[in-house]
Amino acid sequence: MQNFDELKNQIAQDFASAQDLEALSALRIEYLGKKGQIASLMKQMKSVPKEEKPAFGQAVNDLKTEASALFEEKKQALEQKALEARLASEKIDLTLPGRKPAYANLNPLHLVLQELEDLFIGLGYQVIEGDELVEDLYCFERANIPKDHPARAMQDSLYIDPEHLLRTHTTAIQMKVLEEQAPNPIKVVCPGKVYRRDDDDATHSHQFMQIEGLVIGEHVPLSDLKGTLEFVARKMFGQNREIRFRPSYFPFTEPSVEVDVSCHMCGGKGCPTCKGTGWIEILGAGEVHPKVLKMAGYDSTKMNGFAFGIGIERIAMLKYGIDDIRHFYTNDQRFNKNFDRFD
Ligand code: PHE
Repeated sequence: MQNFDELKNQIAQDFASAQDLEALSALRIEYLGKKGQIASLMKQMKSVPKEEKPAFGQAVNDLKTEASALFEEKKQALEQKALEARLASEKIDLTLPGRKPAYANLNPLHLVLQELEDLFIGLGYQVIEGDELVEDLYCFERANIPKDHPARAMQDSLYIDPEHLLRTHTTAIQMKVLEEQAPNPIKVVCPGKVYRRDDDDATHSHQFMQIEGLVIGEHVPLSDLKGTLEFVARKMFGQNREIRFRPSYFPFTEPSVEVDVSCHMCGGKGCPTCKGTGWIEILGAGEVHPKVLKMAGYDSTKMNGFAFGIGIERIAMLKYGIDDIRHFYTNDQRFNKNFDRFD
């Protein structure tokens, strides 16, 4: 019986010193398993003298019961410990500030477009958008650019079929507005994306954005055009930047002008961005050609007006000091998030 007490103490000691459930499980197999020490004691029963068998059997059973109880007790303690450790490691700090979702910024082109639209709405203009896929009729013919006109070569673009193409200028919207409104007065701006065959470089892209204005009425003076364009240029760039008007040519306006702004990169000395000229073209404009008015259904002896076309990219580049037009189209938030409206 002495033997069993020693074993009992050993089991109690071993179970007590088990550090985790794995170690405890190994000890259970060693003592309480089918081939464990207690099972092998049971097997010794056959060699025990008959009269001692009941006492021996009883003692082994008692040992087994006690060892099982010790095991259960220790198992529960270790499980509790494991649970506590897990709860501690998974503790949630409700006082931590939440994670902010990453909000995207508007592309600077949209910021400039919004600003220009607001500006024109303030001047009493209506904003009209049109289709990007347009008829050759409104993109060219009605703008006094017939099929064989050399001006087409500059814009010869993305045709879907011989009569339909992706609009090469927002003038295509204007020509439709003219037809719809004739013979009434008009005061609209038409913003949108345009497409044309062009070399992609720091200041050109085959796809870009424009906003065009069109004012038609009785005796609209050319000084209104000049006043309007001056107002827009000063609103967008402030007083510091220089502006110049150059005589130009567009088939749908007569006379025509081009408006340049002094280069923001070099201040007008000449650099790669302005191709050494010191100036960047931002705007084409002019008095609407009488032929254009007639084709749309106006009496050009009674009604006249002006039109202008602004390149949104150019404005955005000047306004924000961006040196490469291609930055606008990558939609990289590291770029976009730097811009906000100035007004
Ligand atoms: N349609 C011209 C362009 O695409 C711009 C323009 C518009 C010029 C209106 C004069 C009047 O470049």
